[in-house]
Amino acid sequence: MPYQVIYSSASSTPMQREDLEDILERAQASNAASGITGALVYVDECFLQVLEGSAEAVQTLMAKISTDLRHETVTVLQAQAVPARCFADWQMAYVSATAAQVAEWAGLNVRTDLPDTLDSMRVDRERALQAMDGILAVLMQQRASRTGAG
Ligand SMILES: Cc1cc2nc3c(=O)[nH]c(=O)nc-3n(C[C@H](O)[C@H](O)[C@H](O)COP(=O)(O)O)c2cc1C
Repeated sequence: MPYQVIYSSASSTPMQREDLEDILERAQASNAASGITGALVYVDECFLQVLEGSAEAVQTLMAKISTDLRHETVTVLQAQAVPARCFADWQMAYVSATAAQVAEWAGLNVRTDLPDTLDSMRVDRERALQAMDGILAVLMQQRASRTGAG
């Protein structure tokens, strides 16, 4: 069974577009080699990332990510074996979102601010799974609109 980790973190400095592109380009190449798939969200100087793959590959990557100085307060929200990958088609998808969207995905009042949303995900970990479903829905929608556009 694939293993899945969802974590949140705070970027050490505000990420520019090229900083994110650098993380994603390298991640996609390296994840392709190690069989990792997932998605990354960056909003209000916080990351939310889903990683999935073999337990060994995910744990090895989490160990590297946890010591990466580009972010801090890495908090694992979910870590479990899952029957199937959610992001099988994405080596590392990037989803841009607003704090309100993340709150909505997590099933919270959209006026809740991001730190509160992340706190709720820590306390009630089902919310992290709900947020992940929200990320997936956005990606499916993006894919559908691309396909629809021909
Ligand atoms: C928010 C964030 C997400 C990251 N996601 C990945 C990822 O999905 N895959 C990956 O290989 N590295 C990712 N990295 C980079 C790793 O932390 C690390 O720099 C990279 O694995 C290279 O490690 P190595 O050169 O020691 O092999 C991420 C870094 C940050 C800050």
